[in-house]
Amino acid sequence: AETEVLVFGSAIIDFISYTTRLPKAGETLHGHRFQTGYGGKGANQCVAAARQGSRTALVAKLGADTFGSDYLRHLREEHVNVNHVEQLAEQTTGVAQIAVSDGGENNIIIVVGANNRLSSCDVSSAEALFQEAKVLVCQLETPVEATLTALRTFRGVSIVNAAPAMTDTPPELLQLASIFCVNESEAALMTQMPDICNVEQAEDAVGKLIAAGANTVIITLGKLGAVFGSADSKGVCQHVAAPRVAPEKVVDTTGAGDAFIGALAHHLARHPKGKLEEHIAAACAVASQSVQLPGTQSSFPRA
Ligand code: RIB
Ligand code: NA
Repeated sequence: AETEVLVFGSAIIDFISYTTRLPKAGETLHGHRFQTGYGGKGANQCVAAARQGSRTALVAKLGADTFGSDYLRHLREEHVNVNHVEQLAEQTTGVAQIAVSDGGENNIIIVVGANNRLSSCDVSSAEALFQEAKVLVCQLETPVEATLTALRTFRGVSIVNAAPAMTDTPPELLQLASIFCVNESEAALMTQMPDICNVEQAEDAVGKLIAAGANTVIITLGKLGAVFGSADSKGVCQHVAAPRVAPEKVVDTTGAGDAFIGALAHHLARHPKGKLEEHIAAACAVASQSVQLPGTQSSFPRA
């Protein structure tokens, strides 16, 4: 059967430490729990879509180490097509050191290792997938030149999740994406706004990203849901609220953005005639479920 959602991007092993609060610079804290997990924004988004029921494929690079072998086995168990997930000799699988506070906040350091080897050649090798997929999803944990090649090649609906944000985003990245999606802090960085903490500020940022060449922009706002607008709607934005989650139920927001993107891709592929606000509402619901369980992929719901 044909691929619905194709993800071109990262796969990373997460090392998650849970602590009462996030550490300050130079500080050592006692954490109270540790967990490893399957992460990386690309693989997270792919698994999120697969769990919603999409036929998915991932194009990614792993190291020829036990992390890489374990990751491949895991992706197969999640029914992801891994024909173009390659383990590279003399490369290490990407790793992420993640701290999560009791309030569910996090900070993350990634060392991407093998992910840096994802290249434009991998677009040509996976040409058949690029031809058949309905939706392409990319992020910024792998080299941006390869992402641009992927976007130039693809004819369907493309979602660029510009995360983690880069300070000098190539304008083509905005122009080539059908949908450009970032969270509030990434949007602030890209638009040089000091802060984005409410719907009005997010709407300003959507306007700025459209002025910079984007077609449709979605800015996710955590518990406030998301704001979107497109070049066609002449700067008129819409706000989609997220389902309310009681604060004591928020245990880990890591990967919530990826749950959102994966679910969005699934709905776009399945219901191409549907309204974007309905797809966004469905994606917000999936993301809200993910914050109520620890970990990244381990917290993504199955439809
Ligand atoms: O978006 C969450 C992800 O970011 C984590 O899984 C971690 O691997 C980092 O890439
Ligand atoms: Na979670």
